[in-house]
Order: sequence, then C-alpha cells, then structure tokens
Amino acid sequence: MTVVAIDGPAGSGKSSVSRAAARALGFSYQDTGAAYRALAWTALDRGVDTEQPEQLVALLRDFPYSIGIHPDDYFVRVGATDVTDAIREPRVTAVVSAVARVPEVRAYLVELFRSVIRSSSTPGIIIEGRDITTVVAPDATVRILLTATEEARMARRSAELSTESAAKTAQQLSSRDAQDSKVVDFMNAADGVVTIDSTDLDFDQTVSAVVDLVRTSD
Ligand code: C5P
Repeated sequence: MTVVAIDGPAGSGKSSVSRAAARALGFSYQDTGAAYRALAWTALDRGVDTEQPEQLVALLRDFPYSIGIHPDDYFVRVGATDVTDAIREPRVTAVVSAVARVPEVRAYLVELFRSVIRSSSTPGIIIEGRDITTVVAPDATVRILLTATEEARMARRSAELSTESAAKTAQQLSSRDAQDSKVVDFMNAADGVVTIDSTDLDFDQTVSAVVDLVRTSD
C-alpha cells in the first residue's frame, strides 16, 4: 500500500489539498489534527483543565474517537456525538496546542494513526499533520512538507473575514505555529522529504503537484 505523509504549518492548505489528492488517487485520507482537536473538545466538554497534563492523560482511558477516512465521507465523532464542526471552533483551537504537547497524548495518538494506516484497505492513504513525515510514518512511500510563506497562509485564512477578525486570525495562527514548533519541527523538511511551496500555486496546482509526486513514486 502507498503511504503519503504530509506535514506543514497551520493554514498551509494541508487538509483540503490532502483530501482532494486522495479523491483523485482513490486513496483514503487521515487528518491527524482532528484527533488532537477531538481530545481538546472532549476536555472542554468534560470540564477538564487543559493546562493539567495528568487530567488530559486520564481522558485517554475513555476516548471513543472515530473518523471517516474516505475523502467523500469525512466526519469526526467522539462516542455518538458528531464533532466535525465543533472541533474547528475558536475555543477548541485556543487549547489544542496545550493538549498536543503532552508526551503521553502524542504517544497514544501516534499509535492510533499507525493502526489506521495498517488497517486501511484502499490502495493508498494520505495522512497529514505535523509529525507524520518524521514520527508517525517516517518510512512512508512519499513524504511531503507543504509550505507557503506566512503572508500567503494568513491571506488564505483571512480571505472571508473582516479586517479586524483577519488580524486576530493571523495572530492566532502564528502563535499556534510557534507553540507547536516547540514540540515538533514542521517548518523544515527532514532528510528525504520533498518540499512543495504553494505560495505561488493555486489550489488545483497544489493538488496536482502532490498527485504527480505520488504517481511518479511507483
Ligand atoms: O492540523 P490542525 O491545525 O487541525 O491541527 C490542530 C493542532 O493539533 C495543531 O495546532 C497541533 O497542536 C496538533 N497537531 C499535532 N500533530 C499532528 C497534527 C496536529 O501536534 N500530527
């Protein structure tokens, strides 16, 4: 099975590009950020203090997380609750980095992601996040760092917002990247990782760049 690992900073377009590329290739798709977000959502839902690592670790004993890995049937659930939209709320985004920096949380989720890769029955899987090319799947068939200048990433995220919220979004994006970078390096490509810089590419061109890399890897 072909495993495509994609890392990159917030706002690099990883999720939408990965999903479109998976659809074009007939692959499944795994968004690992969704798992960190779902755990952050669970912590907030149960009134857990996200600054207390031991409370977050305790949550893992009962974390009935599930995700749709077909690119056309994407959902995120915790137990019977559909949290696909709720995990994108600003209150979740604000605490997700605190959840993701806990080593036991990372170890647990890394194993979960690997088991999803192992059990995938499609010809391939695209899996994206921050530590996929280096920790989760360092032996992946294709390893990509998807980047764009900070300016381009901010502009994409802010395109539909007012000037005031755009400024706030830009600030949140860069502070989340700064916090996340202390835990894993996703700003520099590790050995053997191909960088796709999408600053001057539109969405379709970026998807094609990923698809072409995968097709030429056979
Ligand atoms: O990709 P997304 O922005 O949804 O990820 C949400 C958060 O999950 C990131 O800000 C980061 O803290 C964490 N994350 C991580 N490792 C991954 C994927 C996401 O630490 N592989």
